[in-house]
Amino acid sequence: MRICVAGGAGYIGSHVSHALVNAGHEVVVFDNLSTGLRTSVPEKATFVHGDVSDPLLSRKTLKGCDAIVYLAASKDAGASMLDPIRYTRNNLQATMSFFDAANDCGVKYVVFSSSAAVFGESQYLPLDEDHPKDPTNYYGYTKLEIERVLAWYDKLLGIKSASLRYFNAAGYDPDGKVTGLERNPANLIPVVMEVACGVRKGMQVFGTDWNTKDGTCLRDYIHVTDLADAHLRALDHLEKGGATFAVNLGTGSGQSVLDVIHAAEKISGRKVNYQAVGRRAGDPEALWASGEKAKQLLGWVPKHSSIESIVETTWNAYKANGLVK
Ligand code: WQD
Repeated sequence: MRICVAGGAGYIGSHVSHALVNAGHEVVVFDNLSTGLRTSVPEKATFVHGDVSDPLLSRKTLKGCDAIVYLAASKDAGASMLDPIRYTRNNLQATMSFFDAANDCGVKYVVFSSSAAVFGESQYLPLDEDHPKDPTNYYGYTKLEIERVLAWYDKLLGIKSASLRYFNAAGYDPDGKVTGLERNPANLIPVVMEVACGVRKGMQVFGTDWNTKDGTCLRDYIHVTDLADAHLRALDHLEKGGATFAVNLGTGSGQSVLDVIHAAEKISGRKVNYQAVGRRAGDPEALWASGEKAKQLLGWVPKHSSIESIVETTWNAYKANGLVK
């Protein structure tokens, strides 16, 4: 199929774009490079530098496309609570404008990058797809709203979609073909890597008094290569006539902040200096997904998501960028 990957120069988007090219699809990457990197775009893909909020360029780019994979959104939950207007503009208005263009161009399938943040506080674990959805941050609200619009667009426009709820996306391509690093990261794993390679002198651990095995928060870290595989499977499912669906993409278990730090020290051979500080506002104690529905529906089973593989492939990306002296 001819597939437009909106946000395809980003961290997850570039891994998805490479997987689609490797699977033989014709890929058009549409990205404004606000956070993505031109060098992360697969050589065999067509690249269009532009913004999803541009109606004319969107239609020009989407002409002839069978499907879109949509990852063009702002993703910092904390930032969404400080600047909701930017999240309304980037995550709601721009997305709706792009979907409007996609519909005008006869696009039949949408794979949407959704998030665990649609759930809010967990009432039980692992989080399955039936768990109540009550986002605790505006970022999660924007993702849930788009999921709901897509359900209506199926009913009213016949557009079939897959909403893929990423848990904590992490890791890098094991073959080293994607090494683009996030600038000024806030997520745990790149922060730990920056401390291990000396880009940062130290880091903070937000809370060591949680009711967990070692007092630090638990999260479901899912390797981007496993996420990319889920996108391929979702597109195949839709192309074969599958109904619109939403699935959680996680490993089914949680790892702690200290698990990550200890894995990084073992793999890098470096000390990761951290200071235990108070809890971060909005942090849930533990979040992990049940990947059972994705396994049943798509045959998806994460293969790269051990914390060791996630940390090792990330460390390799820091080495590839010359940051490990
Ligand atoms: C993980 C754990 C922190 C940094 C976010 C978004 C979520 C999703 C994934 C897109 C937490 C702790 C972190 C640090 C720390 N994004 N931590 N020191 O918050 O689970 O999820 O990214 O879909 O929507 O909210 O990820 O990596 O920020 O934090 O102690 O310097 O690491 O408290 O427990 P999070 P994270």
